[in-house]
Amino acid sequence: MKICMIGTGYVGLVSGACFADLGNSVWCVDKKSEKIDLLNNDQIPFFEPGLEELVNKNYASNRLKFTTDLKLAVRNSDIVFICVGTPTLKKSRSADLSHVFQAATEISKFINKFKIIVTKSTVPVTTGDKIEKLISKKKSKRLFEVVSNPEFLREGEAIRDFRFPDRIVVGSNNKKVTKKLETLYDPLIKKGAKFFSTNRRGAELIKYASNAFLATKISYINELANLCEKTGVNIEDVSLGIGLDKRIGSRFLRAGPAFGGSCFPKDTKAVTVTGDVFNTDLSIIKSVIKSNDKRRILLTNRVKKILSNKIKNKKIAFLGVTFKPNTDDMRQSSSLSMIPFLLKKGARISYYDPSGEKKEFSKLKNLLFHDNVSDACKNADLVIIHTEWEEFKALDFKKLYRKKKFKIYDMRNLYSVELMRKKGFSYYSIGR
Ligand SMILES: NC(=O)c1ccc[n+]([C@@H]2O[C@H](COP(=O)([O-])OP(=O)(O)OC[C@H]3O[C@@H](n4cnc5c(N)ncnc54)[C@H](O)[C@@H]3O)[C@@H](O)[C@H]2O)c1
Repeated sequence: MKICMIGTGYVGLVSGACFADLGNSVWCVDKKSEKIDLLNNDQIPFFEPGLEELVNKNYASNRLKFTTDLKLAVRNSDIVFICVGTPTLKKSRSADLSHVFQAATEISKFINKFKIIVTKSTVPVTTGDKIEKLISKKKSKRLFEVVSNPEFLREGEAIRDFRFPDRIVVGSNNKKVTKKLETLYDPLIKKGAKFFSTNRRGAELIKYASNAFLATKISYINELANLCEKTGVNIEDVSLGIGLDKRIGSRFLRAGPAFGGSCFPKDTKAVTVTGDVFNTDLSIIKSVIKSNDKRRILLTNRVKKILSNKIKNKKIAFLGVTFKPNTDDMRQSSSLSMIPFLLKKGARISYYDPSGEKKEFSKLKNLLFHDNVSDACKNADLVIIHTEWEEFKALDFKKLYRKKKFKIYDMRNLYSVELMRKKGFSYYSIGR
């Protein structure tokens, strides 16, 4: 099929490359010319395991093309996916839909024959209705159909998630169009993905309901970890004990820092706005947002406590600053609030992240990036394991001590409490 992806970010580029790999002809469009230039010069604008090989392979075979020319891409496609960002509006809980509506306005100018316009971006219920209204001001309704096909891939596992999704959700009120999308996804359905179709608003809500539910699971186990710390119970036993119940399931029950990333924080907020608009109090999701905000403060206070409230001139090393491993995405990572707070209190901080130095920290004083664990930990008073990158899972702490012993705050429970204590380390973790 002839496809166009508008927005060449984590979702647009990964799905575009994967669609091309299935044999489709794909145009990837972005309004940022520097992104498109990089892609046309064999470079990937962000880190996602396996993506470079996949993009290069399909680019070489001419199935995958990159352009800033939306007209060219839309005119040459039958299916147009909107994959632009929907961040939180400044000083608000609402999703900023300006990129979505801008993309829809641009598409409307170039519809020359029947197009299926698919929102892959996460958008609040009724956004599809609004896009349809917007385009129908310019083009006859016979020339297009607006469909919702939310994306569920995870950064760091994006290619695998695209190829082996649990389910593909398509929301449309037009059976013929639903069938066309089912055909597009047929290679994945044949490998076991479930195809679920509903109406457009239903698909839009399924995405928010999924993310809010997963965020709830994380906050739930995080709060229980707080109770475990006070009662001498091991949170990992609790996670395993409840996860064995098939009705609950064992995933997303690992206690850690506040959840971050480009999806859960913004999507939980946005869905509560939808609730408000439709006069429905989504009180559970609202309390998850509060709980998560509190957690950022709670863990920072724990750091203070570990350092006996003496932060001034203490050297703290952060291992990992991204919100999760295998991505360079810093959006809403809890390190973004923790590090500036500790710096303000007089700490000197060094950090190492396998995905490299972060522009988000470039203006902060007393903060240094190192390109390896041992330099980052040199002379540290406290080492914080913030992100569970593979390379932090078997560290030789004795070797890292070098001149000075440091305390360890393992926010990902990567090590055994008993073993660490036996070895004489001053070791703290979450809910244990
Ligand atoms: N990142 C994820 O893990 C993930 C997973 C599932 C769903 N989503 C959703 O998918 C959407 C995209 O997320 P992302 O992380 O890929 O965003 P992103 O910020 O990485 O990429 C969006 C891209 O769209 C481009 N863009 C914006 N307006 C444009 C326009 N009018 N024309 C052309 N290009 C335009 C931007 O320049 C940017 O490169 C969001 O709604 C997000 O919630 C994201």
